[in-house]
Amino acid sequence: MSDPFFVGPILGIETSCDETSAAVTDGARILSNVVSSQVDLHAKWGGVVPEAAARAHVESILPVVEEALSEAGCLLPEIRAIAVTNRPGLVGALSVGVSAAKALSLVLNIPLIGVHHLEGHLCSLLAGSPNLPYPRVCLIVSGGHTEIVRVGAARSYEIVGQTIDDAAGEAFDKGARLLGLGYPGGRAIQDTARGGNPYRYPLPKGLNGDTHDFSFSGLKTAVLRLVEKEGPDLNIADAAASLQHAIVEVLVERTMAALAPGDLAVGLVGGVAANLSLRSRLEDECRRSGIRFATPAIALCTDNAAMIALAGSGRLAAGQRDDFELDCLPNAPLPGLVHK
Ligand code: KG4
Ligand code: ZN
Repeated sequence: MSDPFFVGPILGIETSCDETSAAVTDGARILSNVVSSQVDLHAKWGGVVPEAAARAHVESILPVVEEALSEAGCLLPEIRAIAVTNRPGLVGALSVGVSAAKALSLVLNIPLIGVHHLEGHLCSLLAGSPNLPYPRVCLIVSGGHTEIVRVGAARSYEIVGQTIDDAAGEAFDKGARLLGLGYPGGRAIQDTARGGNPYRYPLPKGLNGDTHDFSFSGLKTAVLRLVEKEGPDLNIADAAASLQHAIVEVLVERTMAALAPGDLAVGLVGGVAANLSLRSRLEDECRRSGIRFATPAIALCTDNAAMIALAGSGRLAAGQRDDFELDCLPNAPLPGLVHK
């Protein structure tokens, strides 16, 4: 059975980190999904500067909302509800989206719902795979998160495993920086790894033994040592391929090991889910194990407002609403978390 959706067009807003995004969805359909990236702004510092991110969101938010409405062929008064990321994230950045969402909700007199950013990533599966069965095991991999989550039903989550230090996206970004490939590093590593030998430089997998958790900080140190040891002899394509291989293999291995009897599907979401090697390796393993696999279109993997509107739609359909007290939180557990 597919998840119920709120009836009518929803405006989604996402400003938790370095993308200003607005989208219009209707049911599981994405009518528009506009993303204005601040990558160039932050590239010169090699990472996201929170104050600069917030100011850039202030500049972009209204033009991005206008573009999302116009691409959807929708007038503002036709919007029936607003969904906005309010947690977790950079508080200054979140506040820009939340303030805009409150103002629009007030003026249009329509419901407002705050969305957890990771629930947004999990719901990015709804557009392409609305009938993916529960319970499902989802790997969320992004610049700030690496979590294996069992989704027992819509909005019911259990954390099965997580990173104890760096996120998978950070491992890509920091490794790319050490290899001189720039920021953000995930896409650069993927492109440089093409044609490289993934077995040339063996790199550590992190935690050993029977665990569903991850550790990526040792990988960063190992890449640093490799760069120092090999000096100008380092083959960058082989190093990028070896780094990608180390990250992808541990993600695939732990996700498959997290499957319990009764789990019916595997989902792959978050910015690092855009990685083509990870997508195909996890899909292959699922096929081998006879379990359904789904991952969103690449544009829905990295931060975007369509996934926020889709997540908000489910909560609105379940009768949930927020008021103007809606707060912005830097850290927050997934709502509906069950502990086993
Ligand atoms: O979900 P996201 O857009 O933002 C956060 O919520 O963090 O994820 C951004 C992360 C960055 O670390 C970026 O390097 C990584 O996703 N990423 C990739 C690829 N595209 C983006 N990592 C590996 N391969 C890619 N093709
Ligand atoms: Zn994200």
